[in-house]
Amino acid sequence: MTTTRGLRDREAPITMLTAYDAPTAAIVDEAGIDVVLVGDSMGNAALGYDSTLPVTMAEVKSRTAAVARATEDALVVADMPFLSFGVDEAESVRNAGELLKEADADAVKIESGPHTVETTRRMADVGIPVMAHLGLTPQHVNRLGGYTRQGTDQDAAEEIIDLAGAHAEAGAFALVLEHVPANLAAAVTEALDIPTIGIGAGPDCDGQVLVINDVVGLGEWSPPFSRQFGDVRAEMTEAVEAYRDAVASGEFPADEHSHVEADLGDLY
Ligand code: KIV
Ligand code: NA
Repeated sequence: MTTTRGLRDREAPITMLTAYDAPTAAIVDEAGIDVVLVGDSMGNAALGYDSTLPVTMAEVKSRTAAVARATEDALVVADMPFLSFGVDEAESVRNAGELLKEADADAVKIESGPHTVETTRRMADVGIPVMAHLGLTPQHVNRLGGYTRQGTDQDAAEEIIDLAGAHAEAGAFALVLEHVPANLAAAVTEALDIPTIGIGAGPDCDGQVLVINDVVGLGEWSPPFSRQFGDVRAEMTEAVEAYRDAVASGEFPADEHSHVEADLGDLY
C-alpha cells in the first residue's frame, strides 16, 4: 500500500499517472504505479471539454470513486476542480473532505498559489493530505494567456521556490511541478524535504507524472514534454473497424456466439 508518508521516505523515483475510470485504474495499479491521479485533465482527456475549467465536483467525485474501487495498492489522489477551492475557505475544506469521505480518495491535489497556503494548512490540520501543484497551473489559463512554461526568469523562479517552501511548511505531503525549467525543478527539489513530482520539469524531481491518454497514445494531441509509450488509439480503431466489418458481412455473430435456441413451438 502506498501512503503519503511512504512517498516521502522512498529512494526510487515515484511513478504517478492519471486515470479516470475503473478499468484504466486497475491497469495502472496492477502495473505497480505508486500514485493514481484523478486529474481534472479528465476535462480534456475523458469528458470532451477543451479545458479543465468546466470540470465539476460531481464529475471528480464520480470518477474518483470509480478509480478508488479499482485500486488496491496505489495512492488515489483526487484533483480539486476549478472553483471548488479558493473562493471560500470553509467550502474548500469541506469539498476536499468530501473527496475522501464520499469518493474514497486518499488525498487531494490543489493548483497552488499564494491564496492556497492557509487552505493547505487547514486541510492538513483536519486530516486531509494535500498535494500542492506549482509552475503551469492550467486552471489559470485565462490569466496566463496560454499553457506556457513558467518560472523562466529569476523573479518568477524565486516566487515558485518561495511558494513551494510555504506549502511544504503548511503541511503539503508532495508537490507537482508542471512545465518549469529543469534547473528550477532541481533547485526546488533540493530545497524541499517533501517529494517533488514533475511533468515537463526535467529529470531531477523525485518522481514523474503524465496523463494516461498521452502515455498510451489514446488522444489526438499530446504536449511536447510527454512521451507516447503505446498506440491504443490505433489498436482500438482496428478493433472497432473489424467489429463493424464482421457485423456488416454477417460473419459475426457466428454459431459459437449464439448457439442457444429456445423452443418456440410453432411461433418461429
Ligand atoms: O490534471 C492532471 O492530470 C494534472 C497533472 C498533469 C499533474 O494536474
Ligand atoms: Na490537474
